[in-house]
Amino acid sequence: MSAIKPVYLNEILSHHPIIEAINDEAFGPGRFVRAAERVREQGPHDADLSFVAAVDDEIVGSVRMTAITAGSVAGHLLGPLAVRPSFKNLGIGKQLVRIAVAAALDAGSEGVILVGDPPYYSPLGFEPVRARLIFPGPVDPNRILVAPKGGDIHDRLDGDIVWRGESATAVEVREVGGI
Ligand SMILES: CC(C)(COP(=O)(O)OP(=O)(O)OC[C@H]1O[C@@H](n2cnc3c(N)ncnc32)[C@H](O)[C@@H]1OP(=O)(O)O)[C@@H](O)C(=O)NCCC(=O)NCCS
Repeated sequence: MSAIKPVYLNEILSHHPIIEAINDEAFGPGRFVRAAERVREQGPHDADLSFVAAVDDEIVGSVRMTAITAGSVAGHLLGPLAVRPSFKNLGIGKQLVRIAVAAALDAGSEGVILVGDPPYYSPLGFEPVRARLIFPGPVDPNRILVAPKGGDIHDRLDGDIVWRGESATAVEVREVGGI
């Protein structure tokens, strides 16, 4: 069993430089041309629903959430999700996803959408989007996944995916559930 004990915190403004460094390291410069990133460029992410993982006061992972409209669904787009290479395979990525999804659904999101690998996200409640969501760039439709709040929102996940509304900026750090 690992002796590393990550803690999970809501994102605050001062985390921004290290989160940028973690995402640069994980995705490289090509990240800015990805279709999901082009949705995120339309407006700020929601810091209240975004989280970091820290080990011994060092930020080692991050997940961000952005309010979007997907077809006629008022949901959230999850990502980027990244964990520093030396802290991989400790469960940090999955726990960041669990915390962010729970926070968004508790806050009234109709569903959390992402572009990612189904084998990683399926055990976390994500399922393939059945209708046709249109991103502002090419996306493999098999990698568009949703964790719905409830009911069948799939019929309404049909149309453009665009940034939505006002997003908050947290000013105080809060610890949230650990593993
Ligand atoms: C993907 C990433 C966030 C996973 O973080 P992590 O903290 O190592 O993940 P966890 O420890 O929670 O989960 C690890 C498990 O997921 C598996 N896994 C990792 N990436 C996977 C993928 N793309 N597809 C399927 N399984 C994957 C690992 O093999 C491991 O399996 P195991 O538990 O059976 O050993 C991290 O590897 C990363 O930052 N990668 C680069 C950026 C990236 O690809 N982000 C996701 C974009 S969709």
